[in-house]
Amino acid sequence: MNTTPATAALIERRNRTIGPYSPLFYNEPLQFVSAKGVWFTEASGDRYLDGYNNVPHVGHCNDRVVRALAEQAATLNIHTRYLNNRVVDYSERLLATFRPELDRVLFGNSGSEANELAIRIARQLTGSTGMIVSDYSYHGTTITLAEMTTGLTTREPLGAHVRTLRIPDLDTDPRPAAEVLATTLAELDAAIASLQEAGFGLAACLFDPLFSTEGMPRVPAGLVAGIAGRVRRAGGMVIADEVQSGFGRTGSHMWGHDYAGLDPDLVTMGKPMGNGHPMSAVVTSERVLNDFGSRNEYFNTFAGNPVSAAVGEAVLTEMAEEGLMDRASQLGAAALARFQEFAGSHEFVRAAKGTGLFLGLDFAIDGTPAPQIAKQVVESMKSKKVLISRIGRDESVLKVRPPLAFSGAELPILLDALESALQEVSV
Ligand SMILES: Cc1ncc(COP(=O)(O)O)c(C=O)c1O
Repeated sequence: MNTTPATAALIERRNRTIGPYSPLFYNEPLQFVSAKGVWFTEASGDRYLDGYNNVPHVGHCNDRVVRALAEQAATLNIHTRYLNNRVVDYSERLLATFRPELDRVLFGNSGSEANELAIRIARQLTGSTGMIVSDYSYHGTTITLAEMTTGLTTREPLGAHVRTLRIPDLDTDPRPAAEVLATTLAELDAAIASLQEAGFGLAACLFDPLFSTEGMPRVPAGLVAGIAGRVRRAGGMVIADEVQSGFGRTGSHMWGHDYAGLDPDLVTMGKPMGNGHPMSAVVTSERVLNDFGSRNEYFNTFAGNPVSAAVGEAVLTEMAEEGLMDRASQLGAAALARFQEFAGSHEFVRAAKGTGLFLGLDFAIDGTPAPQIAKQVVESMKSKKVLISRIGRDESVLKVRPPLAFSGAELPILLDALESALQEVSV
């Protein structure tokens, strides 16, 4: 490590205030002072290409978003108990991106809050508390969600009312897809039966349609719809967590559930929604909202305020005017083709993964996941001034998930850096 004295001092002050437990990326952490579009500027003056962050969806410090935020903040910012056209305009615009039956929205301030609300709604509508989540996932910080967190460390044990499901990956499971599918659905049946026998019943199944935290497994056709069908037959609701998979990330679809062929009862979203401004939402149907809304006064001070609505609108406008989904689709296809070449030319690359601007490379040696290679590549990319990360239960899958504002000018920089990082890998 050749951390400068100034950086070391800042880390020390951070440890004494925020505490040392919130991890920092990289052996030598980066300290950014500004960002624009898909480029960061570090304290040293060096520029880094952002191949990782999905929150600055339409680009860091995007002019349209910043202007909308500043103008509305200078005009009026108030909660939803006063009539305001901006929040209604935004709601209409957001809901127009969903299939017709998903036509109601409740706003929040974070992905955690949206998931918490969706679970609360599901519990009330079903009269049950049982939950099913994947066995390597993350949905947020609240107590309810901590009790169903399987993808990072929490002191809370899994709730007695929670069952987990292993999401299969055809890139690592050698069995025929039909057999893999049948096994997983049988495991789901067993989980549902166990919740019912224990008296919890089934409130909901909560999952990310792209299984991002899980490491983007290549799931058998029919898996996601099969899960939803069984959950519904058991009286449960289906919650699609679109915090990572939504807002055009797949390139081909605005929503991950449409990409995955899933028909959810509740959709939760956050991160890219406000391009860094904290906002989130639960989208659902009129029937569900009527049931919940008529029995609960849902009031959320900061959620759905005019500034957030202005920001949310600016994000949607920017996406449309810059054609960001189409671009994600084209760039994603080109990048995936190159990732596949990498998989073909390096024995330690087990598979190329992903869709749109959410891509990965899975590393393994003789069938054993190789997180050490993923770490090497992430660090090596940093030395080439390109930021990416890694995911999956073994942390062996590269996570390449740049802002959707990524363009054809930047893609070769990322791909060339990755190619040379792979060449430098020492196994
Ligand atoms: C899939 C998913 N759901 C929910 C959350 C929680 O969102 P937030 O950190 O905004 O509360 C995250 C955050 O990483 C996430 O990745």
